Amino acid sequence: MKILVIGGGGREHAIIWRLKLDNPDHRISCVTTNAGINELADSKPLVSYNRSAADLIIIGPETPLVNGTVNVLLNFGFSVFGPTKAVAQIEGSKIFCKSLLTKNNIPTAKLLFQTNNPEDAFRYLKDQAKFPLVIKADQLAAGKGVYIVDNLPQANKAIKEIMIDKKHGDNAGDSILMEEFLTGQECSLQIITDGETIVPLYPARDYKRLLDGDRGPNTGGMGSYSPLADVPDSLVRLILQTIIMPTLNNLNKIETYVGVLYAGLILTKNGPKVLEYNCRFGDPEAQVVLPLFAGNFTEILQAACEGELKKIKPIWYHRSAVCVVLASKGYPNNYKTGYCITGLDPTIEDTLLFHAGTVLSDGEIKTAGGRVLNIVGIGSDLATARTNAYKRLFKISFEGSIHRQDIAQS
Ligand code: AMP
Ligand code: GLY
Repeated sequence: MKILVIGGGGREHAIIWRLKLDNPDHRISCVTTNAGINELADSKPLVSYNRSAADLIIIGPETPLVNGTVNVLLNFGFSVFGPTKAVAQIEGSKIFCKSLLTKNNIPTAKLLFQTNNPEDAFRYLKDQAKFPLVIKADQLAAGKGVYIVDNLPQANKAIKEIMIDKKHGDNAGDSILMEEFLTGQECSLQIITDGETIVPLYPARDYKRLLDGDRGPNTGGMGSYSPLADVPDSLVRLILQTIIMPTLNNLNKIETYVGVLYAGLILTKNGPKVLEYNCRFGDPEAQVVLPLFAGNFTEILQAACEGELKKIKPIWYHRSAVCVVLASKGYPNNYKTGYCITGLDPTIEDTLLFHAGTVLSDGEIKTAGGRVLNIVGIGSDLATARTNAYKRLFKISFEGSIHRQDIAQS
């Protein structure tokens, strides 16, 4: 099969690796690449594709989905895995998402205030706010548009950064919402859907903060693991019934939702509640969930595009996976790139290596981004998977590399 994967990070490397595992003869191409994807897929500009050049197109990142790339490709007659623009707004606009959830009594953090006017936001904070509370930029902000604030000066600073300084871009800063601060363990539950049938994937947990002990700034994700002992099948069923199915049914009223629907949840003492929805595979959740999927992954994605998911029986390995991210010193702020990476070759049993920000340059693999490599360990239990991931990680080095040491630690 000829498959085009859009996106060139760790998640897309994991997707391409998993497709190739189904069938080494798949001809996979990509638009953006890295030193890992490079070995599995040809890189060509998007404009060079005509209908016969790809039997299936898979879109990894949120930006093209939210901007309507699926609509354009569908118009050209391609078979595309990913939601259309109207329903990708479940990730593209936090206000759209909150309104859909609230209107339909789907459990989520309570909305306290929303506005497109910074003066109104400052006034609400001064007159009515109770802390801590959570302030979110409405539109995509590369995972950095969420502020948990403990007092008025912090809250005012957040509003200034988002709405006045437009730190996350003009669109992201147009509107904000404020919601109640919730506590509990977080979990990500992703499903694949053709709009009718759903295939739930194993639950996963990601680590968004930079430093051990969940301290430091938020990042795109410093690690992940799957499955989760504290999210048994009974809880998955509850989340599907009370959260994901009602969300999907309401999205389908707007337009049929095809692709991955990712619920970012918090397990509060009053039950699971939605923190966010994403319209794509999580990164780095895909890196731990896809290696545990034992069935034919290509077939599932194809069936989702063709409205045939009901014919598929997903099969899973009863194993665990842990992903640790090796990042560049300075990430998620400023960092240097171009450092040679050593120790990539010697593979260790029950480990996988997915490239994120790497490049092949002058015959050497070098760092080219903030998050550089995703090292995955697999095992019969979580502790073994964790040991395997770190064993492989300690073989790899580049100048200024940083990582968390407490991923999947019990
Ligand atoms: P989001 O992008 O909306 O998932 O937010 C990023 C992170 O901010 C989440 O993974 C949580 O750790 C935290 N967060 C977001 N909303 C809330 C909330 N209402 N209460 C507590 N933490 C939150
Ligand atoms: N790991 C969180 C995300 O993909 O947005």
